[in-house]
Amino acid sequence: MGPFVYKMAIKASQPIGIFDSGIGGMTVAHAVKALLPNEQIIYFGDTAHLPYGDKSTAAIQAYSIKITDVLLQKGCKLILIACNSASSAAFDLVREYTGSRARVFNVIDPVVDYIREHYENSKVGLIGTRQTVSSGTYQRKIDALGQNIECKALATPLLVPMIEERWLQNDISKQIIHSYLANEELADIESLILGCTHYPLIKSEIAEFYFNKIDILDSAAIVAKSVRAYLEYNHLLSSKLLGSDHFLVSDLTPNFEAATKLFFGIDVPLEKYPLWE
Ligand code: DGL
Repeated sequence: MGPFVYKMAIKASQPIGIFDSGIGGMTVAHAVKALLPNEQIIYFGDTAHLPYGDKSTAAIQAYSIKITDVLLQKGCKLILIACNSASSAAFDLVREYTGSRARVFNVIDPVVDYIREHYENSKVGLIGTRQTVSSGTYQRKIDALGQNIECKALATPLLVPMIEERWLQNDISKQIIHSYLANEELADIESLILGCTHYPLIKSEIAEFYFNKIDILDSAAIVAKSVRAYLEYNHLLSSKLLGSDHFLVSDLTPNFEAATKLFFGIDVPLEKYPLWE
């Protein structure tokens, strides 16, 4: 008898897996939960290896595959790479690795789709980590639309530690934001992509810099809508909540626990789940 390959069908009752380098991706998890309250979420924050923004592509790929394994073991129907740096560095690999076992989403493609629909013939700005900007992923995908959209990108690495220190709405945060956004590279943009999990927390400060005159694109909300549309279309929406959400982290400190409120809106318990042990 030849080899027998049994292909499991993906079921609506399975949870959604969301991963990030740390706690910041909870902005995306929060947007998904707000829109899809019946979905059980398994979140994984790779707190032992953050930040991803300054890591090599190879390192981010290795971490991402390891996390994908955890989320597949937990039976996730969909894996959402909530981190822009990991979406830039590891999406194709994670999708290939996952195959038919789950659907894989990133935080870049839904934003690029949104830009295609709303910003033809315009100049779009992007801010993100060094990894996200230097990978050129957003720029390439926007160019490929062929809609005369110019994407001007600037790495803004100081913003993540600034937000994690809760330096929000103070003189220092305003100065840092100002000196980045005043950069020549971002002159005359008509919209700005917040290409990092953390930036929704300074959306209002960024909007103030532009006197609320340009659109600030918060990918968390756009991505959550795209996940909902996908699940709806494919009859994979869960009709009722079947289990509690879990928030796994590869390293656990009181500071990470305290950060959940900042990024998820409420305190949530973190469970330690080392990636290598
Ligand atoms: N989650 C990362 C991102 O969205 C930011 C934090 C980090 O560098 O790990 O790019």
